[in-house]
Amino acid sequence: MDERDLADNPIAQLHAWLAEAREAVPQADAMTLATADSSSRPSARIVLLRGIDERGLAFFTNRTSRKGDELRENPRAAVVLHWWELGRQVRVEGAIEEVDEAESAAYWSSRPRASQIAAWASPQSQTLATRSDLEARVAEAEQRFDGSEVPLPSSWGGYRLVPESIEFWAHRDNRLHDRIRFVRSHGGWSRERLAP
Ligand SMILES: Cc1cc2nc3c(=O)[nH]c(=O)nc-3n(C[C@H](O)[C@H](O)[C@H](O)COP(=O)(O)O)c2cc1C
Repeated sequence: MDERDLADNPIAQLHAWLAEAREAVPQADAMTLATADSSSRPSARIVLLRGIDERGLAFFTNRTSRKGDELRENPRAAVVLHWWELGRQVRVEGAIEEVDEAESAAYWSSRPRASQIAAWASPQSQTLATRSDLEARVAEAEQRFDGSEVPLPSSWGGYRLVPESIEFWAHRDNRLHDRIRFVRSHGGWSRERLAP
């Protein structure tokens, strides 16, 4: 990977790599999301990248989940995308903001009904005594919304990771990989090469 092969804007570059990954890899949009609580204790899980533009990277979840609690306490995050088949990795770090309700509602309405019911039924990240408790909650939600659209729960919505740095990593032989990091500066982006 040569610096000159990359777009000047890392968001455009991420779009380009994502498009190639979607052709080559199942679930190319799955990314590891790292958050930390107020005492800096980290946690990580996979979420789906559901929007990317100049504002940042959007993902959707239950805001009363563990990640939601941590993002409230400490609104910063890091994500990693990895595409083994392409020998590529992207790391993004920055601040977190909430996606507004209109945008969350638009994404919500694109989801399959069963996923909407699941979001109502599942108190994400809470302990459950048994699997049947969850199934009973699903049955309850199905009955509650029988014959009507499933509305956006107040606890559900998107977050946007507003990037401060975006690193593009490409595999090279003998562990001499390429790493180019874009860092936000003066309203634009500067770039630097990192040792592998
Ligand atoms: C491929 C894949 C995609 C996932 N996408 C999402 C997602 O977009 N949003 C979400 O809330 N959880 C998603 N999950 C589930 C999360 O990994 C996690 O179990 C859940 O959000 C609870 O995390 P938390 O307890 O840390 O808040 C996904 C899991 C996998 C394996």
